[in-house]
Amino acid sequence: MIISVTDNLEGKIEPLSYSDAAKVAALIRQSTQDANRGEYTPFELEKLNAFATPEKIQDEVSSGYLVMLSNDTGDLIGCAMVVRSGKNLVIKTIDVKTNYSRKGYGSLLYNRCEKRLKEVGLNEIEVEIPKFPKSEMFYKKHGFVKTGNPTREDLYFAMFKYL
Ligand SMILES: CC(C)(COP(=O)(O)OP(=O)(O)OC[C@H]1O[C@@H](n2cnc3c(N)ncnc32)[C@H](O)[C@@H]1OP(=O)(O)O)[C@@H](O)C(=O)NCCC(=O)NCCS
Repeated sequence: MIISVTDNLEGKIEPLSYSDAAKVAALIRQSTQDANRGEYTPFELEKLNAFATPEKIQDEVSSGYLVMLSNDTGDLIGCAMVVRSGKNLVIKTIDVKTNYSRKGYGSLLYNRCEKRLKEVGLNEIEVEIPKFPKSEMFYKKHGFVKTGNPTREDLYFAMFKYL
């Protein structure tokens, strides 16, 4: 496995190439589509993934943090993205290709984000969770608690963890 990090949390600008941003966008869209068991209509899923375009990802990463995980042949199999939300930093998404799931890769990506967020001085982490049961279970496993129940109209809900 190859880990590559683009870290713009402290001012410098490490550009993310358009082709890498396109791979990240495609992975996010595919993993949420595969996870969907009727929690979202096709229209809602598109709204959930509206941020997953190469241009928007390049823009978010220009002031955020991106971890990309590739297999030995160079295919992107996972990614995690921390972005700015007002003055705060939030984990925007963690995605693992479906045929690589339950092997600990999501946790590896999460742990990299947590470590970095601690380094920049955060004492709590907030995550926007899609309404897939496995996503909630994943963050519960990492010590997060739910802060409210999503309504039918909400695209995602928040979970947080004190560091
Ligand atoms: C959620 C996601 C990132 C997990 O990735 P992963 O590589 O499978 O995660 P891990 O192997 O590190 O799993 C860690 C723990 O999460 C929980 N978990 C993960 N997938 C689960 C599933 N399908 N059912 C139940 N629990 C699950 C388990 O507690 C698991 O530990 P265990 O395997 O020892 O029981 C991945 O399923 C995904 O990309 N989902 C779609 C996108 C998404 O919803 N992302 C998260 C929101 S930001």
